Amino acid sequence: MQSRTDGDPGAPPLNTFGQLFRVTTFGESHGPAIGCVIDGCPPGIAIAAEDFSADLARRATGRTRHTSARHESDTVEILSGVYQGSTTGTPVALLVRNTDARSKDYDRIARQFRPGHADYTYWQKYGVRDPRGGGRSSARETTMRVAAAVIAKRWLRERHGVVVRGHLAQIGGIVPSAHDWSAVEDNPFFWPDAAQVPELETYMDALRKSGDSVGARVNVVADGVPPGWGEPVYGKLDAELAAAMMSINAVKGVEIGDGFASVAQRGTVHRDEMSADGFLSNHAGGILGGISTGQRIVASVAFKPTSSLRLPGRGLDIDGDAVDVVTTGRHDPCVGIRATPICEAMLALVLMDQALRHRAQCGDVGEVAPRIPAGVQTESPGGAGDG
Ligand SMILES: Cc1cc2nc3c(=O)[nH]c(=O)nc-3n(C[C@H](O)[C@H](O)[C@H](O)COP(=O)(O)O)c2cc1C
Repeated sequence: MQSRTDGDPGAPPLNTFGQLFRVTTFGESHGPAIGCVIDGCPPGIAIAAEDFSADLARRATGRTRHTSARHESDTVEILSGVYQGSTTGTPVALLVRNTDARSKDYDRIARQFRPGHADYTYWQKYGVRDPRGGGRSSARETTMRVAAAVIAKRWLRERHGVVVRGHLAQIGGIVPSAHDWSAVEDNPFFWPDAAQVPELETYMDALRKSGDSVGARVNVVADGVPPGWGEPVYGKLDAELAAAMMSINAVKGVEIGDGFASVAQRGTVHRDEMSADGFLSNHAGGILGGISTGQRIVASVAFKPTSSLRLPGRGLDIDGDAVDVVTTGRHDPCVGIRATPICEAMLALVLMDQALRHRAQCGDVGEVAPRIPAGVQTESPGGAGDG
């Protein structure tokens, strides 16, 4: 593997993601704006500022009582790379202005290292930090990943028929008892079982009242991915998906296919047998040898509980003195609730980049016989089946 300093496009530094569809994000939670530049975007993708609204609203705060009360309009301004409603192939620059930043909420904690936060590690690394709303470590940055992925999702769908979807698969100890994709967008939890929504409301209301927080699991899938995407060995599709998901704030685990459940399985169960009619199962999550099989791509992502709590926690200040940390700003009691569109975005960005890389290297290979139909779609991990 080449080093990061030798110009290898496979190892973009710091705030850049992807090799051929390269997304660079910038901005802090309470700065004037956040934004991204997408370099390598194919020309001819129809896109307008209003096309970003739906996905950004799905990620946004302040839409229900179960997420942070911060209310950003999240209006995208297209600064470059689009002419007469289509991408031109030049860098696409997108900007979202921060309009509801209340930095006063953070005055008291500016000198404190909050337990579970990035305050201490940013301080140790940079020797300075922007404490307002978590600065660059805030999930505000993920707005731009979702925005960039709107373009990726559109290209994947129009060019390859690929559809990326996600849902919440667990909050605390609660798992869906049924799975219905049509329910997911009709409730604030992205939950696939409409009948359970009242239970979740009650659970979240009690949690918020208690001042505590809870973790969650998000499942994301991509249907329609053809066989062949993924670049062994350092650009394996599963390796890049894991890295992409782990780059999201508060993520503590990623599973592909059956993930950690594979540990207790027998080979006779896990191997996905084949027939001329299609694969007979999908324990692998649609990836073998780091390359897509043509089956559904399945990933599952674990989010830790929100660290900012009004219940006092033991921390230190920048002088090294013990402090009781109490966070009174506006916070998500379960960060996983808003994470579904973010995980979808990372899945779409990885697939878009891999699709372009596959086309660049192997575009002349074409379709190789035999093509095994996707076949059976195995349940996603932690969920009740993805139908
Ligand atoms: C959608 C989303 C919203 C988040 N909102 C909050 C929040 O309101 N309060 C908080 O303490 N952490 C929140 N986080 C998590 C922090 O950004 C994250 O825990 C912190 O930066 C430390 O980084 P790490 O957990 O990735 O190690 C959120 C994460 C996501 C994905």
